[in-house]
Amino acid sequence: MSALLLAPMEGLTDFHMRDVLTRLSRYDWCVTEFIRVTDHVHPARLFFHACPELHNGGLTAAGTPVHVQLLGSDPQMLAMNALRAVELGAPAIDLNFGCPAKKVNNHGGGAILLDTPETVHAIVAAVRQALPAHVPVSAKMRLGVKDRSRMIENAQGIEAAGARWLTVHARTKEDGYRPPAHWEAIAEIRSRVGVRVIANGEMWTPEDAQRCREVSGCDDLMLGRGAVSRPDLVGRIRGADALPWQVMVEAQLAFVSHMETGRRLGTLPAPGAPDQEPVRWTERGALGRYKQWLGMMTRGYAEAVPVFEQVKRMKTLTDVRQLLGRA
Ligand SMILES: Cc1cc2nc3c(=O)[nH]c(=O)nc-3n(C[C@H](O)[C@H](O)[C@H](O)COP(=O)(O)O)c2cc1C
Repeated sequence: MSALLLAPMEGLTDFHMRDVLTRLSRYDWCVTEFIRVTDHVHPARLFFHACPELHNGGLTAAGTPVHVQLLGSDPQMLAMNALRAVELGAPAIDLNFGCPAKKVNNHGGGAILLDTPETVHAIVAAVRQALPAHVPVSAKMRLGVKDRSRMIENAQGIEAAGARWLTVHARTKEDGYRPPAHWEAIAEIRSRVGVRVIANGEMWTPEDAQRCREVSGCDDLMLGRGAVSRPDLVGRIRGADALPWQVMVEAQLAFVSHMETGRRLGTLPAPGAPDQEPVRWTERGALGRYKQWLGMMTRGYAEAVPVFEQVKRMKTLTDVRQLLGRA
């Protein structure tokens, strides 16, 4: 069975967005935004903050597993933090070798590591060794820093270190997020490794997903921005009908309310215990996040365009609720 996954996106697919998106459509799993590891083991509260689903056995309220992603350059520190995350309930650990952010790369983490395949290998190996055998360790890489010259070496090193699968975002660090994604490079990687490869990059429609599968040879796909712009993309790739705008309006109201109250919906326990403070946004923060999502949905839904024109200027969530209530 092919897997369809929700991509980790810092500042975008946080707890609230994961909750809403996994209720709307079925994903096989999602991955947290990266947790940066430097020179210490993070306290439990940091893991719970990044992944409140740990309170729910590592599942979203809809029952979708959430893998915890770590980013850093020190193999032993990453291994110790991975173990801590697993002790707290993470069902799997993903390692980030793709982040292009200067701040992160200047500290030796993220995509820049692809220039030193031996470090990539050492990180995956250390994390693999630190965890119980049944807990999967995976890696997510770009094609390289400036070019693809070390792409196979990196992929083979990740495989040799014991990763259960490898997600490939089919661009170099220098490519940033500019289209196209080079799905043919994923096919090249696939032909040189035995590990399961998951294709990622630039899928906005079911047709894109179909073409990506044909070109890359991968059945398994990870969806990023396309999944946020069209929350029904994953379902449509599976053959389901499109979700009408009215369903999206309900989802937006749920998103706003989830951010505002920090309420753990569904099976998630009520907040109150020391490590279970609600993860909530200020009104200003929630409004910003909502505008960001709605702006992205203008790419997927024509109906979002006039709503966004009005929401852009709004200063309170009450105004947003009133507008959506009328929609
Ligand atoms: C705003 C933003 C934040 C991201 N944060 C992460 C992250 O925390 N970890 C990660 O591995 N990739 C991160 N990515 C990369 C995505 O997971 C994905 O690889 C990339 O967006 C390509 O997929 P897409 O074209 O479907 O969006 C981020 C991407 C965006 C746009």
